[in-house]
Amino acid sequence: MKILGIESSCDDTACAIVEDGAAILSSVVSSQEDIHAAFGGIVPEVASRKHIENILPVIDKSLSDAGTEFAEIEAVAVCNRPGLIGALLIGVTAAKALSWALEVPLIDVDHLQAHIYGAWMADAPPRTPALSLVVSGGHTSLYLTGGPLEHELMGSTVDDAAGEAFDKVANILKLSFPGGPAIEKAARNGNPQALSLPRTWIDAGHFNFSFSGLKTAVLYHCLGQNASKDDIKNAHYRPGFVADVAASFQEAVVDVLVRKTCIAAEKTDVHSVILGGGVAANSLLRKRLSEETARRGLQLVMAPPGLCRDNAATIAALAFHLYKAGTRAGLDLEARPS
Ligand code: KG4
Ligand code: ZN
Repeated sequence: MKILGIESSCDDTACAIVEDGAAILSSVVSSQEDIHAAFGGIVPEVASRKHIENILPVIDKSLSDAGTEFAEIEAVAVCNRPGLIGALLIGVTAAKALSWALEVPLIDVDHLQAHIYGAWMADAPPRTPALSLVVSGGHTSLYLTGGPLEHELMGSTVDDAAGEAFDKVANILKLSFPGGPAIEKAARNGNPQALSLPRTWIDAGHFNFSFSGLKTAVLYHCLGQNASKDDIKNAHYRPGFVADVAASFQEAVVDVLVRKTCIAAEKTDVHSVILGGGVAANSLLRKRLSEETARRGLQLVMAPPGLCRDNAATIAALAFHLYKAGTRAGLDLEARPS
C-alpha cells in the first residue's frame, strides 16, 4: 500500500511516499534553514509563507523521485499536531485537497509519534516495552512505548526544549543556525569540564526536564547578568572560549538526557530505549546513550541519522499502522498547535 505523507509542522516542508510502512520510495525535505538563519531562529509567519511556496513543488518531486503517479496513491497522511499553527495549516490543507481529489483516505499523524517511529525504520526494530526519548527543537519528552501506536507520557520539558537550548546558546555564542550542529562542531576543540554548569533535576525522581536555567547560566558566563540583546550582537569571543563553552554546555545537556532516560528505563523495566528527534543526530548523545544502555543490558534503537530531523517518511510509514488500526480523518481535520 503506497501512502503519500506530508510534514510542515515547523520550518521543513516535506513529502514522502512509503510502501507498507517500511519501504521509502521517496523522501523530499525542503529546508528553510538559510532563511531563518538571518533571524537566529524560526520566524513562524515567514515559515508559513515559505511552506505555501514549497508545498506543491515538494509533492511533485516526491512523486517523480518515487516514479509514482497520483493514481497509485492509496492514502494521504499528514502531520496535524503539534507544531506552529500557520505552518501546520499548509500541510493539512494540501493533504485534505489531495485526499478529496484522489478519493483516498486521509490519516492524521502526531509529529512526536512519527519521530519515535523512526526507530522502527532502523535495521533492528525495538523490543517493547521501550522507553522513548524524543529530543527536538520544540520537545523533550520521555514516553513508555508499548508499540508504534502506544505511548504513555512520563515527562517533558517545562520550559525550553533541548534543541531550543542548543539554538539559543548558539545565538549567544554567535554560531550559526540551527545551533545543534554548530555547537557540536565548536565543541570538538573545547574542554567539556571548563565550566561548571547546572544539570537541572538530574536526580529529581521525576521525568520532567528544564533547560532554561542552563541557557541563562551560559549567558551570564559569557556576558554577565545584565546582558542585553545588543550586548549579544556586539560580542566578540576568542575561538578557544567559544569551544570551551560549547563543549561544557553540550556535556551538561547530554548528562541530563542520558541519566534521566536510563533511570526511567530502569524504573519501568523496559527491554529497549528509543532515541528520536533532531537532537538525536548529536554524536555525543548517541555515544553516551549507547555506552550507558549497553552497561545496563538494554537494546538501544536510534532513528537512522537521515530520519532524526523532520521528514515525511516517518509520517507516511506510521500512517500505515494507523490505517490498519482504522484511523481515518475527515475533511474537517484541524491543525493543532499542541
Ligand atoms: O526534530 P527537528 O528537526 O525539528 C523539530 O521538531 O523541532 O529538530 C530540530 C532541532 C534544532 O533545535 C537543532 O538545533 C537540533 O534539532 N539539532 C541538533 C543537532 N542537529 C540538529 N542538536 C544537537 N546536535 C545536533 N547535531
Ligand atoms: Zn520534529
